[in-house]
Amino acid sequence: MKVIKVKDYEEASQKALNIMLDVIKNKPDANLGLATGSTPKRLYESMREDHRINGTSYSDIKTFNLDEYFGLSPDHPQSYYYFMCQNLFDELDINLDNVHVPKGSGDIDEECVNYNQLLNDNPLDIQLLGIGSNGHIGFNEPGTPFESTTHKVDLKESTIKDNARLFFNGNEDEVPKQAVSMGIANIMNAKKILLIACGQNKAKAIKYTIEGKPSIDVPASVLQNHPDCTIIMDEAAASLLETH
Ligand code: GLP
Repeated sequence: MKVIKVKDYEEASQKALNIMLDVIKNKPDANLGLATGSTPKRLYESMREDHRINGTSYSDIKTFNLDEYFGLSPDHPQSYYYFMCQNLFDELDINLDNVHVPKGSGDIDEECVNYNQLLNDNPLDIQLLGIGSNGHIGFNEPGTPFESTTHKVDLKESTIKDNARLFFNGNEDEVPKQAVSMGIANIMNAKKILLIACGQNKAKAIKYTIEGKPSIDVPASVLQNHPDCTIIMDEAAASLLETH
């Protein structure tokens, strides 16, 4: 694992931008695995800025999001599809037919099978990740087997609380209780992985991810087994590390 420690969120986002642009410039028809949450917001804003100023094109890029709440329609302001349009896609020259986010309605089991097939047919050149305060990646909560593929998830209480605070005006009742998520095996299949972690509430999860023994209790710790994984963190997220 390559660990990059930076001062703050802004610097983390700019480092992440360079890595993303490197992938896109080397392969203009790359398959990008994307993430939601507050962490990648500044990165996405920087990608929009770069597209506007430098003309980086996304016309042949395909994207595949990690996860989606189950029970929210794509036009619901808290759906991950909506988030991606607002934060990234609407201002790029990307073809929306090339944008893939798991469906949050219909037959959830069927969607898991279909999305998993889509991932098998389109190997990811890079997977972007945030990390939950309990070490989850995508919506792979503690206890998810490392061999898991796209699956239906019952969200943990702590994740519902975190997401209510950040995105649902603190109203836990409004946060869906289920989601569809890429599995850990899907994430590990990506050629390259880039995880961004910022803030004190990520410090414990980051410490275990980097210094602990890979365990399903902290899903992100599986990344130690990936041949090309970069973790970018700010000082607060790195504050409990002993070795970096
Ligand atoms: C959600 C998402 C994850 C994300 C995590 C952390 O649960 N499903 O993909 O990494 O939250 O979010 P944040 O970046 O807002 O801390």
